Amino acid sequence: MKRIVIIILVSAFALFGSCSKDNDTTPTTVTDLDSPTHNTTVVEIKSPYGFPPMDIHPDNPLTKEAIALGRKLYYEPLLSEGGPQQGMACASCHSQELAFSVSTPGTSVLPHMNLGWNTSYLWNGKIEGKMEDIMTFEVNDFFQSDLKAITASTEYRAAYFQAYGDSIPTKKTTAYALAQFFRTLISADSNFDRFMRGESDLTSLEKIGYKIFNTETGDCFHCHGFPLMTDNDFHNIGLDATFSATNFGRYEITGRDSDKGKFKTPSLRNIELTAPYMHDGRFNTLEEVVEHYNSGIKKSAYLDPLMSKNNPDNKLNLTLYQKEALVAYLKALTDNGFTTNPDLSNPNK
Ligand code: HEC
Ligand code: HEC
Repeated sequence: MKRIVIIILVSAFALFGSCSKDNDTTPTTVTDLDSPTHNTTVVEIKSPYGFPPMDIHPDNPLTKEAIALGRKLYYEPLLSEGGPQQGMACASCHSQELAFSVSTPGTSVLPHMNLGWNTSYLWNGKIEGKMEDIMTFEVNDFFQSDLKAITASTEYRAAYFQAYGDSIPTKKTTAYALAQFFRTLISADSNFDRFMRGESDLTSLEKIGYKIFNTETGDCFHCHGFPLMTDNDFHNIGLDATFSATNFGRYEITGRDSDKGKFKTPSLRNIELTAPYMHDGRFNTLEEVVEHYNSGIKKSAYLDPLMSKNNPDNKLNLTLYQKEALVAYLKALTDNGFTTNPDLSNPNK
């Protein structure tokens, strides 16, 4: 697959040949040239075991060329030129070895995996819709990229042409290419996935943890169920008892009182790698998170009913051994093949 992409790029450079050089700020469209070629190779994503079909945008069918462009842009610091994040690439805060998250005190960077199955994005769900919608927000509002540096690059103009038939980068094609790359960020091969497929086993401790997770004992599965390990919804899980601008969460978007303190349920895949935890990064370890659910729930009028369903005192009353088992199970969700997948790494190196 890689070889094909490389061959296409080389032939596209030849097209630009004599008429442009790097840092030439007046781009030449390929349509001016004698024999432009814009052949895309359709890519189909096979849903992993247990996953529903992925939602693809009808105007942005997956192609090898657009995925390759999106990947290049993801790792490209030039993409932030002209905006407040100048000098940053997406990958500066979303790094592959940490499941495309990064440890930052104070805010918790959401990881990038399996978002092709998501319907709302960011901790408060400010952006809803498809990958194209969140990528449009990232390019237009978060990066506020002027695309000048990208447009000045012969290599990028060739890559945009190969992907979308137009060598002038636009915010739309930039967001669309990123959306395509995001759909390939699939994590579905942890040891727990292999166990679910009957290819591997869990340790006895992990099995006990799985049982706690997946039954009323821990009651985690209602919101973090297989396969996505998120219900794509928002909940107030009792982190705080009072609410103000710093922890309004979903309420900031909807203005509905009942949404106070609700945040997006994160996927628990690769959770071992994405500390600190919760929207504000208040917990540094999985042990602290489990202790929160076990004994730290703070009551308020907005608390999710699931948090106190079986336990009127809002405590799970797990033993130390059960808590260890739960953490062991959460660590069985780490997918090392994902964090080392060469198809998802920096192609610009
Ligand atoms: C300066 C650090 C930083 C950079 C650079 C950055 N992000 Fe993020 N990203 C974050 C943080 C922090 C969050 C969570 C913020 C929130 O929810 O309010 C996030 C969240 C996201 C989400 C939502 C994930 C979800 O599960 O809802 C997406 C998608 C995303 N980023 C894509 C990108 C893309 C694409 C780029 C490059 C154009 C990028 N990010 C660059 C820090 C960064
Ligand atoms: C009512 C739905 C719900 C239930 C039940 C639930 N969670 Fe959560 N979980 C969430 C939400 C929502 C968040 C994010 C909360 C926030 O940041 O404000 C979260 C966050 C987490 C995180 C941190 C994720 C991150 O990326 O920061 C872990 C780990 C976690 N939950 C594990 C569990 C375990 C283990 C259980 C069972 C003991 C459980 N959850 C039960 C909804 C739920």
